[in-house]
Amino acid sequence: MQATSLRKSALVTTVRLAPSQPSFGIVKHKKYLSASGSMKIGKNSVVADDVVAGENVVIWNLTYIGSKTRIGSNVMIGSLVHVDYNVKIGNNTRIEGGVYIPPMTEIGDDVFIGPAAVFTNDPYPMSRKMVGVKVLNGASIGARAVIKAGVTVGEGSVVGMGAVVTKDVPAKTVVVGIPARPVYTREEYDIKRKEWERS
Ligand SMILES: CC(C)(COP(=O)(O)OP(=O)(O)OC[C@H]1O[C@@H](n2cnc3c(N)ncnc32)[C@H](O)[C@@H]1OP(=O)(O)O)[C@@H](O)C(=O)NCCC(=O)NCCS
Repeated sequence: MQATSLRKSALVTTVRLAPSQPSFGIVKHKKYLSASGSMKIGKNSVVADDVVAGENVVIWNLTYIGSKTRIGSNVMIGSLVHVDYNVKIGNNTRIEGGVYIPPMTEIGDDVFIGPAAVFTNDPYPMSRKMVGVKVLNGASIGARAVIKAGVTVGEGSVVGMGAVVTKDVPAKTVVVGIPARPVYTREEYDIKRKEWERS
């Protein structure tokens, strides 16, 4: 856990881990070149060396991305986000500040994850068996929602802010509350959203 170099002056800096240093890295380059693409990384973020990302990935400040995590193209990850090892994040996905994503979480394409949402992977901590949450393409997770280990959030579904999701969310369904229950369809949600944008 030793920093070997630090550049403080750059507006956008990159933190990389030396292979022998699994926890904390060093500010090195303006642009981090991953195995398949590039990432722009804000100050004091830590990204494991073996993270693979597509094009146009932006990671804001004070964020952690763990080993072997795979990130698609056109992805934004906000500040103070913890993305652990072995996480998958699809294309065009946006993760807002303060989100917690543990190992084995799989997030699809075109997904929105609101601020401070929490995903879990251990239903009975500290157990030796873990299971990730799956968020399918086009889903939207509201601010401060909490998702139970092993749950699948269906394609195009919407989780309301503050929901505690304990069961799979069907595709194209809006759920709210504790525990989260369906309230209406994605179609109705899209109509409300358009009306809101027009107003
Ligand atoms: C779920 C959501 C889409 C519902 O919006 P809506 O259809 O406009 O809902 P309304 O405000 O008309 O409320 C309808 C009812 O649901 C309740 N409700 C709305 N959102 C709720 C939520 N997240 N949890 C529990 N109840 C909720 C309202 O209190 C209201 O109840 P009532 O009929 O007993 O008065 C919205 O509240 C939400 O959570 N959006 C996500 C916002 C977010 O996290 N954004 C992140 C980026 S900043």
